[in-house]
Amino acid sequence: MTTAVAHPNIALAKYWGKRAGDGNVPAVPSLSVTLAGLSTRTTVTFGARGEDVVVLNGIVQPGPASARARALLDRVRAAAKIDVAAHVESENDFPTASGLASSASGFAALALAATRAAGLDASVDEVADLARRGSASAARSLFGGFCELVPEAEGARAAQVAPEGALPLRVLVCVVTEDAKDVASSVGMEQTRAESPYYGAWLDAAPRLFADIRSAVVAGDLAKTCELAERSALAMHASALAAGVVYFRPATLEVYARVRALRAAGRTAFATMDAGPHVKVLTSADESEALARDLGAVPGVLRVLVARPGPGASVP
Ligand code: PMV
Repeated sequence: MTTAVAHPNIALAKYWGKRAGDGNVPAVPSLSVTLAGLSTRTTVTFGARGEDVVVLNGIVQPGPASARARALLDRVRAAAKIDVAAHVESENDFPTASGLASSASGFAALALAATRAAGLDASVDEVADLARRGSASAARSLFGGFCELVPEAEGARAAQVAPEGALPLRVLVCVVTEDAKDVASSVGMEQTRAESPYYGAWLDAAPRLFADIRSAVVAGDLAKTCELAERSALAMHASALAAGVVYFRPATLEVYARVRALRAAGRTAFATMDAGPHVKVLTSADESEALARDLGAVPGVLRVLVARPGPGASVP
């Protein structure tokens, strides 16, 4: 039995679109910040009889909901040459409708706990590879601070680009709905690939945005990092939008408008969003408290969570 803890991450340079073929390999490189203060804690116990059981926040997950977790467990069993079922117990200390994807921290914690529980001496690269096959963004949550995920000839490689203290960044998560239902990222990506006239433009622009964001992070340039992160998210959503994959809601646009007004007033405020309507505002540590208050008053914003760069996944 092993327990692992992992934290969600927010992409500054977005991943959107998969390479053709198996293995869940992103079509573009991405770069994220792992967030402190929000955690998934997952315990894996091998040795049960019968089928794998996956319990998420106290609720046993039915077959389809746990299919990707069971596929990960199958890979771990094959590598460890064991043939027993697993009991998986996973808890998030942040709500599913918090605006933060739990799949990244969830698959990172599951991959780490499962490899250790099976007695495998897996390197962090091997654990990240397992996590990526469940949810590509999860590979980045194995690492703390600022992390990249770069497609390679075979698979993709995740690695830390800069430690937690590299930038005085704060992420203000503006939650705009309690409704957890959105087009799942993999469905949205596939629809964008198949139907968007701008998917090619996104594939062309994303690696350049990634390279520029990576340089800005390594140089410790907060303003440039945040500015380019906003562009990456807008480019990603523009490609999705043209395929009818729309994650914006009225409150999303209200937050974007407020962010532009804050910027015009001289504040560091840039917006990013993922496969959901919540907006994550990127700002500096110094400005974060005042900005969180301001954004909390935007019509349609239910609450604002303030997160800072955090550590990678671990076995506590
Ligand atoms: O890893 P997935 O399948 O949850 O996809 C993540 C997609 C985005 O969150 C929109 C972007 C990203 O790079 O995290």
